[in-house]
Amino acid sequence: MKPIQVGLLGIGTVGSGTFNVLRRNQEEIKRRAGRGIEITMVADLDVARAQSVVGEGVTVVSDARAIIANPDIDIVIELIGGYGIAKALVLEAIAAGKHVVTANKALLAVHGTEIFAAASAKGVMVAFEAAVAGGIPIIKALREGLTANRIQWLAGIINGTTNFILSEMRDKGLDFDVVLKEAKRLGYAEADPTFDIEGVDAAHKATLMSAIAYGIPVQFDKAYVEGITQLGAADIRYAEQLGYRIKLLGIAKRRDADAARHQSAGIELRVHPTLVPAKRLIANVEGAMNAVMVHGDAVGTTLYYGKGAGSEPTASAVIADLVDITRLHTADPQNRVPHLAFQPGSLSDLPVLPMTEVITSYYLRLRVADQAGVLATVTGILAGAGISIDAVLQREADEVGGEGSTQTDVIILTHDTKEGTLNDAMAQMQALPTVLAPITRIRKEELA
Ligand code: HSE
Repeated sequence: MKPIQVGLLGIGTVGSGTFNVLRRNQEEIKRRAGRGIEITMVADLDVARAQSVVGEGVTVVSDARAIIANPDIDIVIELIGGYGIAKALVLEAIAAGKHVVTANKALLAVHGTEIFAAASAKGVMVAFEAAVAGGIPIIKALREGLTANRIQWLAGIINGTTNFILSEMRDKGLDFDVVLKEAKRLGYAEADPTFDIEGVDAAHKATLMSAIAYGIPVQFDKAYVEGITQLGAADIRYAEQLGYRIKLLGIAKRRDADAARHQSAGIELRVHPTLVPAKRLIANVEGAMNAVMVHGDAVGTTLYYGKGAGSEPTASAVIADLVDITRLHTADPQNRVPHLAFQPGSLSDLPVLPMTEVITSYYLRLRVADQAGVLATVTGILAGAGISIDAVLQREADEVGGEGSTQTDVIILTHDTKEGTLNDAMAQMQALPTVLAPITRIRKEELA
């Protein structure tokens, strides 16, 4: 089957990430989607710059409507942003029978009702994983993974700029204005950061999540929105002393009717600075990272964490939508979501490696005789095997075996090495008469 053809409207940071990741991982993506996916046309006002990003094989135009008019294009990615021309182009693409993928949270939070209705009438998809929390697949989690649940509440750090500012204010005890200036200098805040710092961007995202969680229309105009501009460094400090961190949260919460408490049923939809117990995982989400907690009646509390912005993290979400559309709408029925994520005919024969081929780093603890030269012999064996040492800790003999002890513990952290190589080195160390007990080995992963 020939590749599905995609037209890209706007090739800035996320657009170039999408183009590059799609090209870099094209074989793997094809094996998942059941069909190749290619960006064959790009529209951007700066044609020369766009052409330099995509190379000569891709048609670049300045008029986005040339893409919408092209009958060979099946999917249009809208990465222009804003409500103006982006809205017109999304509606025109839908009218032309194209599926649409967009990262435009502002557009969908405000005009989603109109856009989704147009897409339903035309039988096309408008997919927007990239619009909420960048690379975190929170839309898919809410819409599919948690579909059994009544969602009781969700709460998220869904704006990286403000989380970076709050982290800096807390770490350095600085005031908002000072940190904002620094955030702009470092590129964490845009030249005009109004939407971020006033909570509007987070409210767009919370609005979209509330619609998916509760099956209500998108209603940005009903959201309560309060940003972080009035927050003082003193409040962050006092909250800390009381065991809390202050985070800008986007919250959507179901409230059931309760006559005794004069409570009516409805959905709370709000964005504001919030005290969160410091021991909660989400309270420790620092810098520009995002995280969303979702509490469902069956599953309990779940947490999703990752990069909420940036070129390739957001591209990751855009391309996930391209794959969904390709699987569900343009391939044959065999190509719906496969059991093992890859199409059955595309499984690879890459082997699962034997443990001796695994590469990782290690914690080793050796109970040794407290004698001259023992450490040198042990490290000599590691050096001879080409295993690099990261750190060594030697306990005082007294600490290990009590006063006058003749034994001690040597703890070694290694850098990455092959397990088979370490096995050989461990066997040599274990055979030393000065190694008095079986060596303890614990594998170490930095998970960075
Ligand atoms: N400006 C947003 C943020 C990223 O700071 O998280 C895109 O939504």
